[in-house]
Amino acid sequence: MDNDIKLKGFGSTAIHAGHNKDPRHAHLVPIYASSTFIFDDAEQGMRRFSGQEEGFIYSRWGNPTSAEAERKIAAMESFGIKDANGNPLQLKALLHASGMAAITTLLMSTLKPGDKVLTHFSLYGGTEEMLRNVLPVLGIETIITDLRDLQKADDMLNADPAISMIYLETPANPTIQCVDIDELSKLGRKYSKLVACDNTFATPYLQQPFNYGVDFVVHSTTKFLNGHGTAIGGVLLGKDLDLMNEKIYKVYKTLGGTPNPFDTFMLINGMKTLEIRMDRHCSNAMLVAQFLDKHEAVSKVNYNGLEHHPDNKIALKQMKHPGAMMSYELKRGFDGGVDFMNKLQMCTRTVSLGTCDTLICHPASMTHYSVPADARLKYGISDGLIRMSVGIENVEDIISDLDQALR
Ligand SMILES: Cc1ncc(COP(=O)(O)O)c(C=O)c1O
Repeated sequence: MDNDIKLKGFGSTAIHAGHNKDPRHAHLVPIYASSTFIFDDAEQGMRRFSGQEEGFIYSRWGNPTSAEAERKIAAMESFGIKDANGNPLQLKALLHASGMAAITTLLMSTLKPGDKVLTHFSLYGGTEEMLRNVLPVLGIETIITDLRDLQKADDMLNADPAISMIYLETPANPTIQCVDIDELSKLGRKYSKLVACDNTFATPYLQQPFNYGVDFVVHSTTKFLNGHGTAIGGVLLGKDLDLMNEKIYKVYKTLGGTPNPFDTFMLINGMKTLEIRMDRHCSNAMLVAQFLDKHEAVSKVNYNGLEHHPDNKIALKQMKHPGAMMSYELKRGFDGGVDFMNKLQMCTRTVSLGTCDTLICHPASMTHYSVPADARLKYGISDGLIRMSVGIENVEDIISDLDQALR
């Protein structure tokens, strides 16, 4: 199936988009484990280097296996979206060796000394580290605020012309807070700022930030896009094709955070089942959240799908379903968290998220063990907080494992 066939459904797009017929009739794209690509003659080498002829040169610059994944993700993120002229939105995707590598390319290729980034206070820790501690070395500062307060965001953009990018992550790691992509993109346009959105938790099946006019989307493909926990990866997508193909592509291939084709192959196969996996992740998550919400050992459930969650309305406004990530607080605090983790029989004790298996982490004893309790609490990470990525097992098995571990 060639990649320009028009498909009606998101699921078919996830399966077929991006695939080109293999010259040797392989069903799946082969793993092109080749660092370099040969030229028929010197003239072809000249044409390739000058850009007169398309083709692969060196795998840090692009690889046929990775290119299939890039086309597939671009097709999913742009699925059903029209550009300003009413034509199907065209996106360029650059696949990376990790989500952090994709975020690094985005920031390094669009910001310059003196620029500032405006962002929300709940962010993936690696991104926050990059914004807080790495970029200042290059003369780029970050303003961290509550982007759910739109008037405050407007005032800040109005007051500080040095802000050149609004960086969103929604739902955010680890709090699962949501910010309003539509309203913040409007502010971006009002003040002529770039808007970027980390769409890792939602995936393009549940949320398409380009629908609201953002300039860039990034993902850690390590999570729901891969879906099976088999490979680290990331992607940067942009709609300004000239910018993506010229300036950003040059920074991408110079920074060198390109993926290897084996990981990419795993990603391609994982992405084919994104729609049915997400449907199951989401329906399981809703039932698990409702179960926990009534459980006597649990004091609070943070799940955007529950009506009492403060971000429920924003989540429903911009997402097809609030997703499969949640956290909850155990009444028995730190010891209760450790006890619960030790009693789990089926659910997996680990960090990360987005795999078929239900993954559970107790931040106070794991990811945030070395962070003082008062500092943790500022981010809502209490002693008894449990973070959970609800998997696609049969939901009764997830619930009965949680139930026995909560006793
Ligand atoms: C929302 C989000 N963005 C980015 C990243 C970084 O991705 P990676 O670990 O693939 O570098 C993560 C990792 O957990 C994440 O949760």
